[in-house]
Amino acid sequence: MIIEPKLNGNVARAAHPYGCKAAIEEQINYTKEKGTYSGPKKALILGASSSYGLASRISLAFGAGADTIGVSYEHGIQDEKKLATAGWWNNIFFKEAAEKEGLVAKNFIGDAFSDEMREEVIKYIKEEFGGKIDVLIYSLASGRRTDPKTGQTHYSALKPIGEPIEGYSVNLEKRELFEQKVEPATEEEIADTVKVMGGEDWEIWVQWLLEAGVLAEGFKTTLYSYIGPEVTQEFYRSGTLGEAKRDTEETADKLHETLKEKVNGEAVICVGKAVTTKASAVIPIFPVYVSALYKVMLEKGLHEDTMEHVHRFMKDMFYGDNPEVDERGRLRPDSWEMREDVQKEVEDILSEVTPENFQNITAVEVFRDEFMQLNGFNFENVDYTKPVDLEKLKALQP
Ligand code: NAI
Repeated sequence: MIIEPKLNGNVARAAHPYGCKAAIEEQINYTKEKGTYSGPKKALILGASSSYGLASRISLAFGAGADTIGVSYEHGIQDEKKLATAGWWNNIFFKEAAEKEGLVAKNFIGDAFSDEMREEVIKYIKEEFGGKIDVLIYSLASGRRTDPKTGQTHYSALKPIGEPIEGYSVNLEKRELFEQKVEPATEEEIADTVKVMGGEDWEIWVQWLLEAGVLAEGFKTTLYSYIGPEVTQEFYRSGTLGEAKRDTEETADKLHETLKEKVNGEAVICVGKAVTTKASAVIPIFPVYVSALYKVMLEKGLHEDTMEHVHRFMKDMFYGDNPEVDERGRLRPDSWEMREDVQKEVEDILSEVTPENFQNITAVEVFRDEFMQLNGFNFENVDYTKPVDLEKLKALQP
């Protein structure tokens, strides 16, 4: 069959396997071109199949020569109507490339929030991985989490707190700007979002790994967060997700103390920049901000995609000599996004944007193109007119 792009609003319903392979190759080549760095040898990445987590895995493997374990929630081909997710192919083609270079690349597919997954991963580290882990990258983004203690499933809400918000957002399918109004979250929705995207699960993972004795001396862990400028405050930092991210900062402090004492280790929050991902495309109003931001950062020669951004973070900050640390002890590779001159110009664009002019005054097509590429489309070196053999593809396993 021929696989064609399929968008439902800002959600992708199709992924092209060979396009995902091209994306993996491009990210690996970029990492290699940028040169190696001295980093961890054994890494565990939660949320390893796309965007921030995948870029971390590629940087650690191809930049620092690390063996990696990746955990993600993806599915393979079910039938002609339900094809595999992009993350499924990313896992497969990452593993293929890493093994070619003699690196261990183990994929676990399933619910990272569950105790069963923790047990499986720990068993694998003890029995097969060949050593304790030097780093844990926490990069899960999810709409729900089942609490392993209570069995209750919590759903996160992408909403403001207190007041409703109104503004434009982008519909990637229709290439249109539309007015979006989001009502404020209830107390329960706020608590649920913290439950899903806050620090609790990160803390449980670190505790389990520590108690199992699988953390190497000098172990480090980071969780990706976002703060953003003034114009994004009402729908991000002051909203439900912001509340969850604040919770992770408290978790980082706690974990840092414990790790320092037990394994001479550290826990730190990495505040990343706004990038094009499956998760960021569905945050209210965010796509318009991102499109304006890209326009300004491209013009200033500051634009980075997720791979470029994460690799710079790893090489220069997390494992390098140029960490930018703020007053809360968080690492701040987002400093380029937050520059005053950048934000001034972004604000100017946002104050002028209309459904008629947004194609011209923002870089919405760059955002759209990056989004399509996340799903394996828009690569020049892939022949999308060539039918793919589903049976042959089904035989590939992560
Ligand atoms: P994404 O949607 O591209 O990736 C999420 C990953 O989590 C995927 O690998 C997915 O399979 C995995 N996952 C989701 N639920 C799971 C489950 N139950 N069990 C196992 N794996 C599961 O998301 P993105 O954007 O890369 O986000 C990762 C982190 O980076 C989030 O904490 C996000 O807040 C943060 N971040 C994102 C920014 C952005 O602009 N996208 C900016 C700064 C931080």
